[in-house]
Amino acid sequence: MERLSLYSVFPLLTLLLPSAMIGLHCSDPAPMPWPERFHALLYMNLTATGELMVTDIWYDLPRGRNVHLMQRQLDDLLYNVEWENGTSFYYTLGSTRYCHPKQWGIGLPRPDWLADSTYLGRRYTDGFLCHVWTKLDFVWYYEDVDTRRPVRWDFFDGVTNYVMTFEPGASLNDSQLWQAPSHCFSSGEDDGNDHGNKHDVQGAHESNPKGLDMKAIFDLNFRRLI
Ligand SMILES: *[C@@H]1O[C@H](CO)[C@@H](O)[C@H](O)[C@H]1NC(C)=O
Ligand SMILES: *[C@@H]1O[C@H](CO)[C@@H](O)[C@H](O)[C@H]1NC(C)=O
Ligand SMILES: *[C@@H]1O[C@H](CO)[C@@H](O)[C@H](O)[C@H]1NC(C)=O
Repeated sequence: MERLSLYSVFPLLTLLLPSAMIGLHCSDPAPMPWPERFHALLYMNLTATGELMVTDIWYDLPRGRNVHLMQRQLDDLLYNVEWENGTSFYYTLGSTRYCHPKQWGIGLPRPDWLADSTYLGRRYTDGFLCHVWTKLDFVWYYEDVDTRRPVRWDFFDGVTNYVMTFEPGASLNDSQLWQAPSHCFSSGEDDGNDHGNKHDVQGAHESNPKGLDMKAIFDLNFRRLI
């Protein structure tokens, strides 16, 4: 009886062994998943163009929506509203009335978009002692060792993001529902202000010379990770 139970346990051990070995690698810390809802204010240096930008991110997975309010220095506020159904709208309001809808075909980044990243150890950045990970040589992610809050992330193309505020659970005032404005949906009648509408990113860039290409890279960086 005793022996029999030993034999019956043995195959189980061989099954468990590989996961135990994976467990050894897991002694490295893993990035804290993003909360399902948060607000963050980012200070961004788009080093390739020398431009600076502050961006409010309102990530809201339960509502299937991720809003970026992007303020380039002395430029129009650029709205980027991403939806879980794969559609993103980039638009400005006011006199420029720019809009560029984009079908990514996939939804929002998941809270664990940094899973399977490679741990690089601890480093100081901006005065914070951080855990640092990289994923696919696209992103370098810094998380405060004490509070586990994100401090900074850098993309391969040199874009650096510094987290100025991070508020888990904060959600955007829903009074306007964040539906894209009507000029995102107008076709035919062209009033001369929305040439970017329905063009690809290249075309959008022509009509919005200060605008979209870095943002598109920013988004693509995220998209390739998920
Ligand atoms: C932006 O990044 C560039 C390149 O690293 C650097 O020379 C510049 O000082 C940075 N600007 C600011 C305001 O951080
Ligand atoms: C995705 O959802 C948004 C917001 O409701 C909507 O404006 C957009 O048209 C939808 N896209 C598709 C392809 O259904
Ligand atoms: C949301 O916006 C509406 C309309 O601007 C305003 O009346 C309301 O007080 C706001 N709610 C919050 C929680 O800020």
